[in-house]
Amino acid sequence: MTERIVLAYSGGLDTSVAIGWIGEATGAEVIAVAVDVGQGGESLETIRQRALGCGAVEAYVADASDEFANEYCMPTLKANALYQGHYPLVSAISRPVIVKHLVKAAREFGATTVAHGCTGKGNDQVRFEVGIQTLGPDLKCIAPVRDLALTRDKAIAFAEEKGLPIETTKKNPYSIDQNVWGRAVETGYLEDIWNAPTKDIYDYTATPEFPPAPDEVTISFEAGVPVAIDGVRVTPLQAIKELNRRAGAQGVGRIDVVEDRLVGIKSREIYEAPGAMALITAHKHLEDITVEREQARFKATVGQRWAELVYDGQWFSPLKRSLDAFIEDTQKYVSGDIRMTLHGGQAVVNGRRSGTSLYDFDLATYDTGDTFDQSMARGFIELWGMSAKVASGRDIRVAGK
Ligand code: ARG
Repeated sequence: MTERIVLAYSGGLDTSVAIGWIGEATGAEVIAVAVDVGQGGESLETIRQRALGCGAVEAYVADASDEFANEYCMPTLKANALYQGHYPLVSAISRPVIVKHLVKAAREFGATTVAHGCTGKGNDQVRFEVGIQTLGPDLKCIAPVRDLALTRDKAIAFAEEKGLPIETTKKNPYSIDQNVWGRAVETGYLEDIWNAPTKDIYDYTATPEFPPAPDEVTISFEAGVPVAIDGVRVTPLQAIKELNRRAGAQGVGRIDVVEDRLVGIKSREIYEAPGAMALITAHKHLEDITVEREQARFKATVGQRWAELVYDGQWFSPLKRSLDAFIEDTQKYVSGDIRMTLHGGQAVVNGRRSGTSLYDFDLATYDTGDTFDQSMARGFIELWGMSAKVASGRDIRVAGK
């Protein structure tokens, strides 16, 4: 029987050419797998037809946008995950859901190998292959760009020679990856890290310098998940989309960073994640009133470690799973409303309320009605400083000798 390979297919030039390229290099039949993670653009049907037109024996297409929002974006939100304090893991969280569908398609169509279009320099090859190793340990992996010398020039020549139904003239100087959680743009002019991004780079966000009138939004959460916007019930996917639109119009969520890739390279990336950044900001502020202090402090560390694991391709790892259990436990009381103003590139929280709040007005107030017994503070401070005071006494004693 002819060997079969499932290919993670985007519908773009490189993976379209990869169908025939892999076929010629390996003699295998190629099954194209296209997964909708809310990237917008062409319909899955158009992509399916193109895959078949480029020589795929089968095309597996899946609308995974709700699955992606529920099972990948929501955990990222609950973790307030920002890699290196900036990046909301846009591409990093889409790879594991694509991997799931690749393995499913491999089983359905009897494939022995999984192929993806990543280069040998980035994080995504690691995320795909580590994911495959975990979910389908018997499956082999190949990357035509990395392993079969499929360069951009060769891809264009191949597409023209074979008359593939794909545009080869459109020249985009950037490498772009996008989904409902955000958009990532790199390469070209941006590789000079002194160059400011030009306007044409952005798509999810409008220029924050010329914003429309301020937009006030109320986001309601239940156990860490957004459930309503301005009182209207929404699914996680709808919440992200609605905030992409509204926060995007105000230029919220533009991020320009040089980040540390897993492979040891520092690389410059421009992100736009208006919905994700508005949601993370709101969620964090709701945690501030609903999560107990020590739990909150520890959770910040856990969230950072979670972001690193996910960035590094460890989505399906045991440690990530354990941290998920901790984070989930902290979300029990993260319910309530956050009111925020979206304007001029900023999402600023200006009101919060929750039935599970730990904010106690009577303890906090400086007005009459204060229930806090200030006389307790003296003894507390005496004991709190005791350890350092004893040590300091020792330091003075030793220095005097
Ligand atoms: N640097 C980001 C990551 O590793 C995004 C990768 C894809 N970026 C792109 N522009 N194609 O998660």
